Amino acid sequence: MCEVRKAILERIAEEVRRCTRCPLQAYRTRAVPGEGNPCTNVVLVGEAPGFNEDLQGKPFVGAAGNLLNELLKVAGLSRQEVFITNVVKCRPPGNRDPEDSEIAACEPYLIAQLKAIEPKIIVSLGRHSTRLFFRLAGLDFSSIMQVRGEVRRVAFNGSEYLLLPTLHPAAALYNPRLRGLVEEDFRLLGELSGKGRGLERWLYG
Ligand code: URA
Ligand code: SF4
Repeated sequence: MCEVRKAILERIAEEVRRCTRCPLQAYRTRAVPGEGNPCTNVVLVGEAPGFNEDLQGKPFVGAAGNLLNELLKVAGLSRQEVFITNVVKCRPPGNRDPEDSEIAACEPYLIAQLKAIEPKIIVSLGRHSTRLFFRLAGLDFSSIMQVRGEVRRVAFNGSEYLLLPTLHPAAALYNPRLRGLVEEDFRLLGELSGKGRGLERWLYG
């Protein structure tokens, strides 16, 4: 299914693996283009590969990835049903925050992936991912705690999406309060992604 999308995503992934557009290319073991179901309605976008992702070339395979798998279960979804990627596709040294210039250099890959998949829902995981989508949609970003758990209809690059910002799983790993909030947001994702009630009642504003 979705052979054309799959082929486009594979071409993007090959470009990412060869990419030298920003300084992060010098530090990577493997680039992490992202992976998942090309037919999906749900794309999740994290921040950047970490230690384990860099070694394996796959997104969210470490401790934060285990929590993400649990969270997807809360939403009634599995990894095989969604597509998972990051704002930057190569690991920043020492897991530092990606710089604005690196995020900007890598942005075309994310846009191309979204264009290929045309999902209904984008889940932005954490501050960097959420800030990027707010900028693309022309919205003012305040803080992740302010905007998380609210669904916004956004448009950019000629497409419309529902954006659901939530906290980064890594932030929730050792903090039960934050974990409760992310779980709340993934329950909402479950509703949104068609396994529950209609979309409209969840729309913010
Ligand atoms: N954190 C992220 O933001 N992305 C990953 O792929 C892994 C950890
Ligand atoms: Fe290219 Fe993105 Fe990797 Fe930078 S982070 S080298 S822009 S793929």
